[in-house]
Amino acid sequence: MDVSRIGEMKSIMPISFIDLKAQQARIRPQIEARFSTVLDHGQYINGPEITELEQALAHMTGAEDVVLCGNGTEALEFAMMGEGIGPGDAVFIPAFTYAATASAVLMAGATPVFVDVDAQTFNMDPVDLAAKVQAIVVEGRLQAAMVIPVDLFGLPANYPAINEIAAQHDLKILADGAQSFGGTQDGKWVGNIAPMTAVSFFPAKALGCYGDGGAIFSQSKEKAEIWRSIRWHGTDATHKESIRVGTNGRMDSMQAAVVLVKLTIFEDELKRRRKIAALYDDCLRGAIHIPERCGRSDSGWGLYSIVLEDRDRIRNVLADANIPSTIYYQQLLSQMAAFEAFAPQGGLPVSEGLCRRILSLPMHPYLTDSQVHYICEKLIAAL
Ligand SMILES: Cc1ncc(COP(=O)(O)O)c(C=O)c1O
Repeated sequence: MDVSRIGEMKSIMPISFIDLKAQQARIRPQIEARFSTVLDHGQYINGPEITELEQALAHMTGAEDVVLCGNGTEALEFAMMGEGIGPGDAVFIPAFTYAATASAVLMAGATPVFVDVDAQTFNMDPVDLAAKVQAIVVEGRLQAAMVIPVDLFGLPANYPAINEIAAQHDLKILADGAQSFGGTQDGKWVGNIAPMTAVSFFPAKALGCYGDGGAIFSQSKEKAEIWRSIRWHGTDATHKESIRVGTNGRMDSMQAAVVLVKLTIFEDELKRRRKIAALYDDCLRGAIHIPERCGRSDSGWGLYSIVLEDRDRIRNVLADANIPSTIYYQQLLSQMAAFEAFAPQGGLPVSEGLCRRILSLPMHPYLTDSQVHYICEKLIAAL
């Protein structure tokens, strides 16, 4: 290496894929103060932080109501339970997503029907959705009941087109927004784009806690009350009698306290994520396939993912330059042992190609401009 660049390199390294430590350093006194409050009042379950966070999230997004639960998977499960989704129902989901989307469908006793994704946005392809719904209707074995678009890597799915198909076939729409909190479409925040949205507060998410947590956002107060009951063994408002089947799916007060503090810096962090994405775009445009911007949507920038023909070799070159990267996802759900029984005949050509070519670069609000320039310089040199 050029000796004159040693000082510069010291300020660039290390590069983290995500940097929860830098974020913690920024908010640690506030987190500790919130933890002390929980220790003082001692309501570890159903403490005042739960209602405070539900209201803060509803206020921010414009959702009618928000119900916290144990994690993003439960958020999907509770929404499906509340809608009565079960055996005999077909639920349309992408296969290019995390296992939770399909597991939740099978835990409900319903049948997942895998839909291909769009090559530009990586989100559910409305044309393939329409074809798959039509095929289920013609076959007549299952009831076309629900669609779960996944806002992959932060970008909201194509809800205007999906809404039209759903309206034609009376499909319920549950958004899997586990990766997209902070994203927008037509001026609406994720959480208030679809009638129901499941969100995860897993620590690595753009808005995460220090453990597990999740929430379901609703455009209907009645649905939210049903989910509140489901998360506490189907109990009535007094939590004494179970009036429906439910489970234990509560988020605890300590985790809510963490999210409350992180929410105070969330929009500032989001601004920085957007700037980093724009910087990546500027440096990489023309050299590689950069993430798609849809005119009506903005990503929450949980991840910055690119498509590379020679992905595995380039990933090794980046690793040699101490640049971490990750592959979401190496394998489609329809290729996994748990879900392969539902693999569609004819495959999912776009999704299959993406598994071989997708790569996620470091993305978090504490990346410096110099680090982004360094990553892009090494990446372009490797092409
Ligand atoms: C697309 C998607 N859906 C659902 C989930 C499940 O969230 P959790 O891990 O909080 O259960 C995840 C988690 O990463 C996800 O990426």
